[in-house]
Amino acid sequence: MNKVEKISSLRAAVSAARKDKKTISFVPTMGNLHEGHLELVRVAKRRADFVIVSIYVNPTQFGKNEDLENYPSTPDDDARLLAELGVDVLFLPNHETIYPGELSKQTVVYVPEISDMYCGKDRPEHFYGVTTVVSRLFNMVQPDVAVFGNKDYQQVAIIRRMVEDLAYPVQIVGVDTQRNEQGLALSSRNGYLTDKQTQTARHLQATLQNMSESLRGSSSVKSKAALAELEKSAKAKLKKLGFKPQYITVARQSDLMPAKKGDQALVILAAASIGRARLIDNVEVQLGEGI
Ligand code: PAF
Repeated sequence: MNKVEKISSLRAAVSAARKDKKTISFVPTMGNLHEGHLELVRVAKRRADFVIVSIYVNPTQFGKNEDLENYPSTPDDDARLLAELGVDVLFLPNHETIYPGELSKQTVVYVPEISDMYCGKDRPEHFYGVTTVVSRLFNMVQPDVAVFGNKDYQQVAIIRRMVEDLAYPVQIVGVDTQRNEQGLALSSRNGYLTDKQTQTARHLQATLQNMSESLRGSSSVKSKAALAELEKSAKAKLKKLGFKPQYITVARQSDLMPAKKGDQALVILAAASIGRARLIDNVEVQLGEGI
């Protein structure tokens, strides 16, 4: 595996791969890799001939009170795991490479509306930071395919929109969420959970599955009021279990707007904190099948 830090070295590796007529897939990460990331890399390997992974902890997607300084970092383990999987290039840019010059004077990439909902509501800078860094990384790597985890459902939807709006010639692939045996979605932030909190955390996915079961009783959404009731009781249940729920919403898969009467392709999106860990999860629900 070729480890590169500079754009010029990255471009040289990409040019050599292109000269050999190789297709390129890309997995952007913030490091501290777990099985969820490794699955993204496996998918990237199946989708193209040459795989590039980046590790960069992007400051612009962290809020003022968030854990940027303490974000877990395991560079040696990450490099070993990626080399074992046969990754071709590990791109390790520094801040100056990604954001040359003063941060407040930099060009930003912002996808309106969808970036301001759900996870963007309490963290207005978050998706701004994500789309800005992903757009820069895409320009540096110039991949054919980029692979993201569907655990970050809203992030993937926003990146798809950005790619469409800005005509990036990149195919976005979303990969199913990897979970532990109890159903807890794998995340670097799970490291903040105590053993007891980890036991509680699995109820997030279980609660969304229960909501999904309730929805499946109908061929389409019956009314906004019925959804509001379902969301309210799920929130109350999570609170009782010790979570601090931020949102639980039944949305449309197509544009992530809140679901309306008659909608069938749905996704339940949720964010809730336990202790220091802010957890997100989702469940897709397709109504009208077999009813
Ligand atoms: O999903 C992540 O780890 C980050 O948001 C990403 C896509 C690497 C951008 O910093």
